[in-house]
Amino acid sequence: MNKLNIAILFGGQSSEYSVSLHSVSSLLRQIHRDRYTITMIGIDPEGRFYVYDGDIDSIEKDQWKEKAVPCAWVHKGVLPLDGSEIIPLDCAFPVLHGKNGEDGTVQGLLEVMNIHCVGCDVTASALSMDKEFMHIICDHAGIPTAKYVCLYEKEENPSFEDIQKQIPLPWFIKPCNAGSSYGVHKVKNQQEFEEACKDAWFYDGRGKLLVEQSINGFEIGCAVMGNDTIQTGSCDEIEIKGLDFFDFEGKYKLTGAAIHCPARVSEETFCQAQNLARRVYRAMNCCGMARVDMFVTDDNRVILNELNTIPGFTDTSRYPTMMKEAGIEFSDLIDALIDLAMEKKVGVC
Ligand SMILES: Nc1ncnc2c1ncn2[C@@H]1O[C@H](COP(=O)(O)OP(=O)(O)O)[C@@H](O)[C@H]1O
Ligand SMILES: [Mg+2]
Repeated sequence: MNKLNIAILFGGQSSEYSVSLHSVSSLLRQIHRDRYTITMIGIDPEGRFYVYDGDIDSIEKDQWKEKAVPCAWVHKGVLPLDGSEIIPLDCAFPVLHGKNGEDGTVQGLLEVMNIHCVGCDVTASALSMDKEFMHIICDHAGIPTAKYVCLYEKEENPSFEDIQKQIPLPWFIKPCNAGSSYGVHKVKNQQEFEEACKDAWFYDGRGKLLVEQSINGFEIGCAVMGNDTIQTGSCDEIEIKGLDFFDFEGKYKLTGAAIHCPARVSEETFCQAQNLARRVYRAMNCCGMARVDMFVTDDNRVILNELNTIPGFTDTSRYPTMMKEAGIEFSDLIDALIDLAMEKKVGVC
């Protein structure tokens, strides 16, 4: 069998750089090595690309760059800038979270280089990453979401009182383009609102933030995979124990939070969440994969929070766990996602 030439991309010029190092270490330990010729490509926090040929532990400890060679992208491959030959590539798996990786930028780079890309394409990645566009598209598709107002850094925005007339407090203030709960705050009054906005502007970097109605209930997620035919994995549930919401510490250290998979909900709510996740996936024109995050409200409605087109990808992360619960082991999941990427057309005009 001819081995597929696969690039595994990690790191990234993003506040979620270190999250990526963990995700990729798990993936590299579990990928079926007999199926692929693997080229590891690291992106440092300044956005430089390198071909890396060292061990996985050094990636996890963020010491990979010492053994890496700068590289340039070429048609269907990468060129290490140390005089070596072009490394041919059929497909790339961007294990990159957040800006400059999950947001359509790297997907565009791969597309123009005629390299198949795991996960969503440019448009779906970019629109999913921007929480305002996600709201606009999903609201248009009739998908229930929290009430919101978008604030623009360069424009005159509604005052605290004006927003209060539209959305009752408390609110969630969130950067439109960030992740891992960076810059997300729950606010109950004007002072908290002003402090939260300052922090959210800092993390957004693109000058947009959301003021969203705070939803009473709990969070539920669903793993979705596919191109033309879509498949849902199990649903999981976030139990918040003492935190205000699922913040960075809660997500990565599980302090004050626990994840239950499958979600401890009725069969009806479980199916409702899976169905909503499918509708979101279609509305956003996703392909490959996405994790759809929702709320179950106190009166048992399921509403959308957001979607992640490159969700956390360690073997214990939510997306792989939900797929495992549905019968797809981590290594097989990687194969399935690469197969889906190879199904898509590249280099067509
Ligand atoms: N409207 C809301 N109501 C209640 N909790 C929210 C709301 N929006 C966000 N949160 C909480 O904040 C967390 C992070 O917000 P989210 O929109 O998922 O941004 P990120 O992209 O940073 O994960 C969520 O997991 C949830 O705990
Ligand atoms: Mg989230």
